[in-house]
Amino acid sequence: MAPFDGTGKVALITGGSNGIGAAVARRLAREGARVVLADVDAEAGDALARELDGAFVRCDVREPADSEAAVAAAVDRFGGLDVAFLNAGVAGGGGVGDDFDLAAYRRAMGINLDGVVFGAHAALPALRARGGGDIVATASMAALTATPFDPVYGANKAAVVGLVRALGPTFAGEGVRVNALCPSFADTDILTPSRGTSRRPDSRSWRWGTWSRRSCGSWTPAARARPGTWCPAARPSRSASAACPDPAEHPRAS
Ligand SMILES: NC(=O)c1ccc[n+]([C@@H]2O[C@H](COP(=O)([O-])OP(=O)(O)OC[C@H]3O[C@@H](n4cnc5c(N)ncnc54)[C@H](O)[C@@H]3O)[C@@H](O)[C@H]2O)c1
Repeated sequence: MAPFDGTGKVALITGGSNGIGAAVARRLAREGARVVLADVDAEAGDALARELDGAFVRCDVREPADSEAAVAAAVDRFGGLDVAFLNAGVAGGGGVGDDFDLAAYRRAMGINLDGVVFGAHAALPALRARGGGDIVATASMAALTATPFDPVYGANKAAVVGLVRALGPTFAGEGVRVNALCPSFADTDILTPSRGTSRRPDSRSWRWGTWSRRSCGSWTPAARARPGTWCPAARPSRSASAACPDPAEHPRAS
């Protein structure tokens, strides 16, 4: 795969203060791109933006106006936008029946699905103004497999894959590529609630925690950011794909 040259590129990264977003931000900055981190975690985001000579914007992706402001900040500060990495996400959306929780449902759908819709909508004019660019959303393997431990998470991630499949052909003619990444587990804070909450083997959180520890192994966010694994810098070769590599083809981080 050809190396990504970020020189002169500007990338907006939602959920960029921590985890996979922060690792991708570091990777893109190392390849020469200017990065704008958009997140609700201002402390971590500010610190990382200073480290990378980038910018931080406080942004709750559930609010369309926040996404518009984040794009405007990228344009004002660095002159345009080439990559919108719509990556902010949370787990724990609950389910149906005994697991139903309206607040958790609305939060998870708002961040994981609305946040991608609003982010793509906000980024499009700036990408068009550059003559094209990339919209990359972080979906999940949960979009492609059964997730009985977090049904609403599976639903909103599947919706993200459906969204990019619809948007890809729509904007391909304008040079705007739309893709989703479908990572399996990476060892980030998103897994924390499912780790220590319960040790009871009959609880869903225990099963998820066990599965995540076994599946995650030593995958780190930085490993997920390597081109050829999950990084938008890898420049997926076609529009509207959901990248879902075979973990066996990708070495684990040491
Ligand atoms: N870690 C995994 O195992 C895994 C697997 C598959 C997919 N994903 C997806 O990867 C993405 C990144 O998650 P991560 O693993 O790096 O987790 P993380 O918790 O480390 O990072 C998520 C980031 O999103 C931010 N965020 C939360 N709510 C927000 C909001 N309303 N507005 C803006 N930012 C908000 C958080 O502050 C945090 O910086 C998510 O979309 C997640 O669903 C993660």
